[in-house]
Amino acid sequence: MTKTYSIIIASIKGGVGKTTVAVNLAIALSIAGYKTLLYEMDTVNPGVGYHLGKLDDESRVQVYKPTGLQYVPARVSESSDAMVPERVSQLESEIKNGDYDFVIVDTQSAEKSLLKKHFDNGLIIINPDEQSCAAGIMAKDMVESSGAKCNIMLNRGFEKPYALSDKEIEEMFGTPIMARAEEDLSLRKSLLSHVPNVLTENAPKFNDQINKLARVYAAMIDEDYAQKFENFSKELNRAKSEIKKLQK
Ligand SMILES: Nc1ncnc2c1ncn2[C@@H]1O[C@H](COP(=O)(O)OP(=O)(O)OP(=O)(O)O)[C@@H](O)[C@H]1O
Ligand SMILES: [Mg+2]
Repeated sequence: MTKTYSIIIASIKGGVGKTTVAVNLAIALSIAGYKTLLYEMDTVNPGVGYHLGKLDDESRVQVYKPTGLQYVPARVSESSDAMVPERVSQLESEIKNGDYDFVIVDTQSAEKSLLKKHFDNGLIIINPDEQSCAAGIMAKDMVESSGAKCNIMLNRGFEKPYALSDKEIEEMFGTPIMARAEEDLSLRKSLLSHVPNVLTENAPKFNDQINKLARVYAAMIDEDYAQKFENFSKELNRAKSEIKKLQK
């Protein structure tokens, strides 16, 4: 591991689960022991603070104590333009100088210019409907225009009439679905309690899927990643008991 691996979480459609995935993936990587920064670039409708229980919105690097995740929540901007220039510079400087293993960037759906900047990887979040897939394809094309490789994550997947099948989605994208998470409304419980879902007992299947995704990314940068994950359960339980102490 020599350099920071940056991942932009993207879609051109709102509400597909970008922030939910970004927060929980970042937490999972930090539990595994990777130095991780979660950078929120959505200044139109910021959400990271709600997940992490920090409702002030100071735009500086903060630490989520239970796991050591570092994060920069967004401040609501008066402008409808999500690309606040100072934040773009701050993000670029953190990627360059921050000595992180991973930087994960949560984006705003209507803000397209950020997608054309260079990141190492794009994680395109889609739902099983045509509109979000079309938005995902557009996001993928933009992220790939900078030379980055993209992965597709199907969120809110469910067996339902009118939902697109895996085969249809993979044909649309011309690439396999790399990760998935089912629809689980108990994710809302975590949002209500301001504790990231992977640190709760809610939506256990979602948590397994996120933890698996964290391993996939860890394997991309670290040949010893399996060793790092040996203590995952222990660290997870330690973080959970830390949260209980903080809640008292
Ligand atoms: N797998 C899932 N099952 C059930 N609900 C989900 C799932 N993923 C996300 N949600 C819910 O969908 C809503 C939107 O999710 P989220 O805020 O992560 O999307 P987003 O793409 O970041 O939206 P925005 O474009 O507004 O930033 C939230 O209420 C979240 O709890
Ligand atoms: Mg969001």
